[in-house]
Amino acid sequence: MTSPDRVPIVGGNWKMNTDLPEAQSLARALTLALAEAGGAEVVLCPPFTNLLAVHEIIADTPLQLGGQDVFWEERGAFTGEISAAMLWSVGVQWVICGHSERRHLMGESDEIVNRKARRALDSGLKVILAIGETEAERKADRTEAVLDAQLSASLIGLEGSALDNVVIAYEPVWAIGTGLTATPDQAQAAHSFIRSWMADRRGEACSRSLRVQYGGSVTATNAGVLMSMPDIDGALVGGASLKADDFAAIVRAAGPSV
Ligand code: PGA
Repeated sequence: MTSPDRVPIVGGNWKMNTDLPEAQSLARALTLALAEAGGAEVVLCPPFTNLLAVHEIIADTPLQLGGQDVFWEERGAFTGEISAAMLWSVGVQWVICGHSERRHLMGESDEIVNRKARRALDSGLKVILAIGETEAERKADRTEAVLDAQLSASLIGLEGSALDNVVIAYEPVWAIGTGLTATPDQAQAAHSFIRSWMADRRGEACSRSLRVQYGGSVTATNAGVLMSMPDIDGALVGGASLKADDFAAIVRAAGPSV
């Protein structure tokens, strides 16, 4: 279980799955299912076109709203992109930067991820920064080297209090959407590496307060054992976040019981 210094945090990444009526009904179901969840912070990340409608549904609840991506410029001729101020203006508090689908399908580099994270933080948004190794990198015993490189490059210029508003999501690429969840020991080892990286590079206090979510085929069934590991402070959930009861069960597994 996460240390008492850290409030667990669970994100629901709806990806490109909900049209407006589907998003509204999922958000309504979640407000009911999570009414008594207590304990963990919860961030719903619907597609951009659903943000305002979901904001209106969850506005009077403890549920928070996140974007799935953000552009690094403030405004201008960037067709199709969404700025941090635009997100903020529809009630968004969080944004995911560097999700593996953006890194691998859209070719986002660590440099781009860093620019996005810095802009989001400068604009008052909090950041869920996603990192993780591919299957080939794990098989080649390069997991720690990959995490080191991704953290070093994605966190350039982010020090001190800026990191209070950053959560790291450790999401092994081979576990995302595949049903191949990392074992609790594999996840714990990676989380512990990330926490020591932070202690070495940004100091003990930052490392102690840093929240590290696990993501990759988290389900209502496996969430409890994953969340029982000492350095796992919550989850970033894709598929199971589309089912209100499953997501609520994951949130309950993450949070200290109330
Ligand atoms: P998954 O996705 O839970 O469907 O594996 C996790 C994620 O991409 O954040």
